[in-house]
Amino acid sequence: MGILEVKNINKRFGGLQALGDVNLSVKENSVHAIIGPNGAGKSTLLNCLVGKLMPDTGSVTFDGQSLLGRKPHEINQLGISRVFQTPEIFGDLTVMENVLIPCFAKRDGAFRLNALTSIAQEPDVRAKAEQMLIDVNMIDKRHMQGSSLSRGDKRRLEMAMCLAQDPRLLLLDEPTAGMARADTNNTIDLLKEIHEKRDITMAIIEHDMHVVFSLADRITVLAQGTPLVEDTPDNIKGHPKVKEAYLGETQQV
Ligand SMILES: Nc1ncnc2c1ncn2[C@@H]1O[C@H](COP(=O)(O)OP(=O)(O)OP(=O)(O)O)[C@@H](O)[C@H]1O
Ligand SMILES: [Mg+2]
Repeated sequence: MGILEVKNINKRFGGLQALGDVNLSVKENSVHAIIGPNGAGKSTLLNCLVGKLMPDTGSVTFDGQSLLGRKPHEINQLGISRVFQTPEIFGDLTVMENVLIPCFAKRDGAFRLNALTSIAQEPDVRAKAEQMLIDVNMIDKRHMQGSSLSRGDKRRLEMAMCLAQDPRLLLLDEPTAGMARADTNNTIDLLKEIHEKRDITMAIIEHDMHVVFSLADRITVLAQGTPLVEDTPDNIKGHPKVKEAYLGETQQV
């Protein structure tokens, strides 16, 4: 039994079956990649896990508790954090201020932006924010403004904000999309480090096979809204069904 269990979910958009009888079991402490060609239903699946979409049928449970019908912030409070494809940070705040917000909210449950100056004085909140920035190698950039960061650094900052929520499950939607190779490799190293250091389970949606094979210990291949195969990276490499699903795409699988 996985920490995250998806059973027979279906989702239609009008006449289009975006997800058809999807089953997924993510084991605790694993890095589970969900791959598949454009339009396969990956983001739709992720949105069903975080309260952004309600599947038409089926169930989704996290540690035995149903996630369906819960609002995104309730799912977050259960221990699930999500790194978005486009980093969601406050561009007009500094790196440190961005991380202080989830550190404070985690402790006190609510946050007002005009309280930021006093929050920054609270030693336990500040110490936690500093530790998060050390963990993602951003401490030297703590005074920089969010909007002035590179794409890779915005992603690292968003990761620090997620880690500040002490998640048990981290969902990542194409964490290296649009990054140069050097930034991609840094992100791979960072995710490996986070996984080893904190025992966080990760479910990662990714197009880049270099990222997938560097990180995942389990892979589910989606095609046209249905899981084609679920297996280890070694067994997925060169799998005829996977090659078929990616026909027309340039990457080697
Ligand atoms: N809100 C929506 N309304 C109508 N159709 C949608 C909606 N969201 C997604 N779809 C359709 O559902 C299918 C699955 O889309 P989804 O975004 O989940 O694919 P994906 O695997 O994430 O693709 P990509 O790799 O391009 O991000 C696509 O055909 C898409 O056009
Ligand atoms: Mg998508």
